Amino acid sequence: MKLSVIGAGYVGLTTAACLAQIGHDVFCSESDLEKLGKLQNGELPIFEPCLDKVVASARKAGRLRFGSTEDAIAWGNAIFICVGTPPLPNGDADLSAIEAVARMIAKRASGYRLVIEKSTVPVQTGTQLRRHLSVHNTNGLRYDVASNPEFLREGTSVEDFLHPDRIVVGVDSTRAEELLREIYRPIIDQRFACPVHEECGGWKEPKFLVTDTGSAELIKHASNSFLAMKISFINMVANLCETVGADVTKVAEGMGLDPRIGAAFLNPGIGFGGFCFPKDVQAFIRIAEKSGCDFSLLKEVEKINQARIELFVEKVRRELWVVRGKKIAIWGLAFKPNTDDVRFAPSIALVKALLAEGAAVNAYDPQAMTKARSIIPEIQYCADAYEAAIGSDAILVVTEWDEFRALDWKRVLSIVEQPLIIDGRNALQPEEISHYGFRYVSVGRADILPRRLTESVPHSPTSKKETNTQEVPA
Ligand SMILES: NC(=O)c1ccc[n+]([C@@H]2O[C@H](COP(=O)([O-])OP(=O)(O)OC[C@H]3O[C@@H](n4cnc5c(N)ncnc54)[C@H](O)[C@@H]3O)[C@@H](O)[C@H]2O)c1
Repeated sequence: MKLSVIGAGYVGLTTAACLAQIGHDVFCSESDLEKLGKLQNGELPIFEPCLDKVVASARKAGRLRFGSTEDAIAWGNAIFICVGTPPLPNGDADLSAIEAVARMIAKRASGYRLVIEKSTVPVQTGTQLRRHLSVHNTNGLRYDVASNPEFLREGTSVEDFLHPDRIVVGVDSTRAEELLREIYRPIIDQRFACPVHEECGGWKEPKFLVTDTGSAELIKHASNSFLAMKISFINMVANLCETVGADVTKVAEGMGLDPRIGAAFLNPGIGFGGFCFPKDVQAFIRIAEKSGCDFSLLKEVEKINQARIELFVEKVRRELWVVRGKKIAIWGLAFKPNTDDVRFAPSIALVKALLAEGAAVNAYDPQAMTKARSIIPEIQYCADAYEAAIGSDAILVVTEWDEFRALDWKRVLSIVEQPLIIDGRNALQPEEISHYGFRYVSVGRADILPRRLTESVPHSPTSKKETNTQEVPA
């Protein structure tokens, strides 16, 4: 089918490339001319594992092209709107980019179009879209509007798009439902050439859930807010563990074994970030408020999350005594591993707080330094984790990239000023780190004093632990 995707960000580019991968003819538009230029030259404006491969093969097969939004609107029978919906100062979602696209569709398209909201939008946006398309309709456009919220996670977006748990479609006509079923048929049946897994198989067919538009819109905000609530809950449990001397890792494990609770999103840390949870929780609070519901539970979720950075900085103060003039290494800037995205990343607020206290910050992230530099240019960016650690009084683990778990700890020990690691993600193994002579401070569990190097290593330096990040889909 001929499909259009408006906006080539994390969601739009993944959507466009994956829809082309499963056999559709896709036109993807991008209004940022620098990004568009890169895409047209075969470069990717974002880092996302596997996406380069999928984009390259779809372009080679002639099934994916990039250009203007005007041309995209003229192209597809179905148009996926994937533009940003950032927060306004009052917490509402800013829908101006959605409105601009809707107006352009109404003014330029003719014939029939299925207009699909894939961006995360407040409930009743579909109703507004229908009204808007009707008001500005100048060419006899016939249309349906559908909601098709996206649940992919940055870092695994291609895999999530192609092997989802569920595909949610909010529709108000049989035609819209049938078109969406046809678009997603290869994914529903799990029949396509998988670019992620060489020998792909055994995936469960996703549930294709059909609802009304408003319910689909609500599913997205309710899902993200619920996951954020789990994170804030375990963060409060972590605070309690620190006070009473319990181990939050064990508490979370014990809780997660109950299938009614589940183990996911029970990793304490320095709080959730990224382009989804913080803004979606805020937007959901506002949606509830405007509907006359006081969703104060979510206000607490937000408040707990906002307090995480100050609690973490307090640990740094406690350990360093005086922060002013100290050299601090930041390992990880992205809001989660395997992405270059730093939007609303806890690292940004943390670095700003440390700079305000007079610390000198040396940072390293495997992918996110270019994007971080545009927000916090005043710190030192380093070539690797070792360079960032040179002369440091404390190393702060802020994003749990796998490579931080596989470092040469003897080498790290030899280059720091003070052997102190404060792990904001519980990413490292306490026994292993202390064995190498570091003082190890983490979240919701006892601080560990350095051991002598003569004792045996309890874990291999390359031992990996499940990712811990306090964000997932969006
Ligand atoms: N990032 C995620 O993990 C994720 C996951 C699920 C849902 N979402 C939701 O999807 C939406 C997009 O998120 P994102 O992370 O991809 O944002 P993004 O900022 O990476 O991408 C949006 C893109 O749309 C482009 N754009 C804006 N107006 C345009 C127009 N008129 N024509 C063409 N391009 C235009 C922007 O330049 C930008 O590149 C948001 O509503 C977000 O909440 C995000």
